[in-house]
Amino acid sequence: MKRIAIITGASSGLGREFVKILKEKSEIEEIWAIARHQDKLDKLKKQMGRKIRPISMDIADLARIEDLGTMLAENEIEVRYLINNAGYAKFCSYGDLSVTESVDMINVNISGVVAMGLVCIPYMPRGSHIINIASQAAFQPLPYQNLYSSTKAFVRNYTRALNVELKDRGITATAVCPGWLKTRLYDRANIGAAKATRRFCGMTTPDKVARKAVADADRGRDISIYSFYVNFCHIGAKLLPQRVMMKLWLCQQRINPCARPKSENNNSYSRPSQQ
Ligand SMILES: NC(=O)c1ccc[n+]([C@@H]2O[C@H](COP(=O)([O-])OP(=O)(O)OC[C@H]3O[C@@H](n4cnc5c(N)ncnc54)[C@H](OP(=O)(O)O)[C@@H]3O)[C@@H](O)[C@H]2O)c1
Repeated sequence: MKRIAIITGASSGLGREFVKILKEKSEIEEIWAIARHQDKLDKLKKQMGRKIRPISMDIADLARIEDLGTMLAENEIEVRYLINNAGYAKFCSYGDLSVTESVDMINVNISGVVAMGLVCIPYMPRGSHIINIASQAAFQPLPYQNLYSSTKAFVRNYTRALNVELKDRGITATAVCPGWLKTRLYDRANIGAAKATRRFCGMTTPDKVARKAVADADRGRDISIYSFYVNFCHIGAKLLPQRVMMKLWLCQQRINPCARPKSENNNSYSRPSQQ
């Protein structure tokens, strides 16, 4: 049996840091590195070496995840680590995204995570680990990152409950809740919305978060939080009512939800005009 790790979103940011850490583990013989763009995966393989097996796929596409299930069945492998890291944000109001765009974020950030886990679990022996990337955004509702923070709240809750359900199989599941990281996530998230979140406190680098996440998973922890600042936010979100936490967030972002947009046409959900 070849011992493998599967990492989604492996070609950039936090995912790339997980590749660096796991390739140094002697128990891992191959890393199945997943992302959409083949060119970025080829570059990753060139930089990280022979352990990397690039797999170009969109985790929002359930048929491709089922294909991955077939690959797992056809190979003599066991999955020691599954890291569900691929995900993205949009910093805007509900009205800046179409129905298709909104549902795609749910498909990537939630459905992809659930489906990857269900497909991989049969190939995970005792002592193996699922690491799902949530976010500090999972701690409370975040207006103007509403959809993103809600998907991450799902990942956090789902993972912690899954960890309990997997105890009889000897598999751990860890929800990682990073604070703001210096990665390319912001290129995709900033769409020039009129009301957008732009102020990110406690920014850190992804290598530290990845290192702590793997260490916490190896210790069997169901949640991994890096940095004093994110721990402070975590405790704050437990102690204060969500209404207060949302107000603090809006103050920090200097967004007035009552301020009227310059044009109603900016909102995808304006009533269509009668012909
Ligand atoms: N950056 C932050 O501040 C921050 C904070 C908390 C949590 N997080 C979470 O950390 C995770 C990693 O984000 P990051 O900051 O490292 O972002 P990133 O630098 O933009 O990397 C995202 C990775 O995911 C891949 N990807 C995106 N959509 C995909 C899809 N549909 N199917 C397969 N692969 C896909 C990307 O490659 P392709 O484009 O080639 O597909 C890339 O490899 C995300 O879940 C994010 O929500 C980030």
